[in-house]
Amino acid sequence: MTGWLAIAGLGPGADNLVTPEVSDVLAEATDIVGYIPYVARVAERPGLTLHASDNRVEVDRAMHALQMAAEGKRVVVVSSGDPGVFAMAAAVFEAMEADPEAWADLDIRVLPGITAMLAASARAGAPLGHDFCAINLSDNLKPWQLIEKRLRLAAEADFAMAFYNPRSKSRPEGFARTLEVLQEACGDDRPVIFARAVSTPEEELRVVPLTQCRPEMADMRTMVLVGSSRTRIIRRAAGDIVYTPRSVT
Ligand SMILES: C[S@@+](CC[C@H](N)C(=O)[O-])C[C@H]1O[C@@H](n2cnc3c(N)ncnc32)[C@H](O)[C@@H]1O
Repeated sequence: MTGWLAIAGLGPGADNLVTPEVSDVLAEATDIVGYIPYVARVAERPGLTLHASDNRVEVDRAMHALQMAAEGKRVVVVSSGDPGVFAMAAAVFEAMEADPEAWADLDIRVLPGITAMLAASARAGAPLGHDFCAINLSDNLKPWQLIEKRLRLAAEADFAMAFYNPRSKSRPEGFARTLEVLQEACGDDRPVIFARAVSTPEEELRVVPLTQCRPEMADMRTMVLVGSSRTRIIRRAAGDIVYTPRSVT
C-alpha cells in the first residue's frame, strides 16, 4: 500500500461546513491524528484508527503522522478551521524540516477548511470587507511584547483585526491588555464582534462598541473581530449588519 499524508481542516464546527474534499479524504483514511476534540469530530468506522493527543505535543504528533504515512498508511492530520491558520500544517512542516531527505518522496497535501475568522465574519455581515490582519493573542509561542507591537501597528495602519485564542483561564491578563492598547490607539467607538462557538449549537454573537468591551466577553471558543475606523453598522429590525466598505476615498 502506498501511504500518504493529508493535513485537513474540519471547519469551525458544523458538519455542513466541512468541504467535500476533506470528507472524501477522511473516507479514504486508515489513521486520523490530532488534538482530542478535533479527532472526536471524525466518525469511527471499521479500518480506521483514531490517534488523539493533547494540544501541547504538536511536533511529536506531526512526526508520528509522518512516520505512519512513510510506513504505507493513509494518514489525515486534522485541525479545526483551516490547517494553515495557527494549526497543524506548519507543525508538520516544522517536523519535516529537521530532516527533509527522510520525507523527500512522501505524498503530502494540505486541504483547506473554513477558518473561524471567516465563519465569524459571515455571521456578522462583512467586517473584513477591506484590508485586515489576523493575530493569535496567545503568548505561548511568542513574546507578549511582539503581540503588543503588532496590535499598535495594526491600529496605526487602520486594519480591521481578527483575534484567535483571545483569552484562556491560564492567561486572562493578555486580552485585558489588548483592549487597553486598542482603546488607547484607536480612540473611537468602532464595533467589536465577539463570535463564540460559531456554527455549533452554543453559537453566540455580540457586537459591542470598543469603549464598552470587557475582557470576560471572550474565551477560547471566541473569535474577536475589531472593525477599522471605517467599519459601520446597518441597523435593521431583522438584525444588525456590520460591514467595512470596499473602498477608501
Ligand atoms: C488554535 S486556533 C485554531 C484556528 C483554526 N485553525 C481555524 O482556522 O479556525 C483556536 C482559536 O480559533 C477560534 N475558533 C475556532 N473555532 C471557533 C468557532 N467555531 N467559533 C469561534 N471561534 C473559533 C478561537 O479563537 C480559538 O481560540
